[in-house]
Amino acid sequence: MKYTSLLITGAAGFIGFHLCKYILDKFEDIRIFGIDNLNDYYSPKLKDRRLDILKNHNNFTFKKLDFSNWEETYNEFKEIEIDAIIHLGAQAGVRYSIENPWVYIKSNDLGTLNVFELARKKDVQKIVYASSSSVYGGKTEYPYKEDMCIDSPISLYAATKISNELLASVYSHLYGINAIGLRFFTVYGEFGRPDMAFWKFAKNILSEAPIEVYNYGKMVRDFTYISDIVDGIISALNKNYKNEIFNLGNDNPVELEYAISLIERYLGKHAEKKYLPIQPGDIPKTWADLEKSKKMLGYNPKVSIEDGLKRFTKWFKDNWYWIKNI
Ligand SMILES: NC(=O)c1ccc[n+]([C@@H]2O[C@H](COP(=O)([O-])OP(=O)(O)OC[C@H]3O[C@@H](n4cnc5c(N)ncnc54)[C@H](O)[C@@H]3O)[C@@H](O)[C@H]2O)c1
Repeated sequence: MKYTSLLITGAAGFIGFHLCKYILDKFEDIRIFGIDNLNDYYSPKLKDRRLDILKNHNNFTFKKLDFSNWEETYNEFKEIEIDAIIHLGAQAGVRYSIENPWVYIKSNDLGTLNVFELARKKDVQKIVYASSSSVYGGKTEYPYKEDMCIDSPISLYAATKISNELLASVYSHLYGINAIGLRFFTVYGEFGRPDMAFWKFAKNILSEAPIEVYNYGKMVRDFTYISDIVDGIISALNKNYKNEIFNLGNDNPVELEYAISLIERYLGKHAEKKYLPIQPGDIPKTWADLEKSKKMLGYNPKVSIEDGLKRFTKWFKDNWYWIKNI
């Protein structure tokens, strides 16, 4: 990689952790400055566990910082050399945006503005930032292509991700920052997120508690394994595009019911299912068209849902002794 000093936001988060770990394991000459506010949207104990692993590397520096605070963010980095920023920190989750809309505007809109302002002030030429499949809203044309009109989001979370893409376009145009937005499609894997379906299913199945199955099991998702997402982020870092958006998915949409049957099989336990209607803000089906990201990023997802869930459930069982208390 051509960079020697990276700022990674959301470093204690699921995707941020895996990206940092991949780079730290592979490139000894790259220094990573990781920031995260370690909020309690889900258990900060899990964020601490991820950080404990990253802190084993001498070239990783962590700072607890809320990037929605401009003064603190700027003061922290004004003297530090940074070649590129990977902006993964955000208030994630569609459902929580109904309960607490303010934190989405604060972290995702104001926070992202601060990250781009930091890049402008420090003359950082490159930003790779997280967008989401949720920007496609209730579109029923499949698969989702990057050039589809995305003016009808159905959750505030999605609206903030669309606004991030617009902001990136402005900063790229005005200040020449190379900005690449990556629309992630339901990412899963080891050290994943406790608010997401696979974690909740595995936890409840092992605890012999019922699992909540939304849209009566008819939800369809293009689940994407974490190592494929990390590969996509690294490719985006290595390319020089001025202002582009790419889907990072798996191009293999599956019904939730099928994913649950795999989790049951790999955990060796039956799930007690409680069927519920679709939740407000949720999209019934996602499916990524990968033509553009294959062609321009060389992106090529390798892990099937069967293989990915096998790895995830093995990790979950092996680590159950601490996971059950998270
Ligand atoms: N996991 C997915 O399936 C998925 C899908 C689409 C998009 N995304 C996006 O990818 C990115 C990473 O997601 P993730 O799954 O790792 O989520 P995550 O919640 O595990 O990680 C995000 C991290 O950002 C931190 N953070 C939030 N607000 C902050 C602030 N104001 N200042 C500093 N840190 C802050 C959180 O503490 C958290 O550790 C997010 O932008 C998310 O919206 C994720």
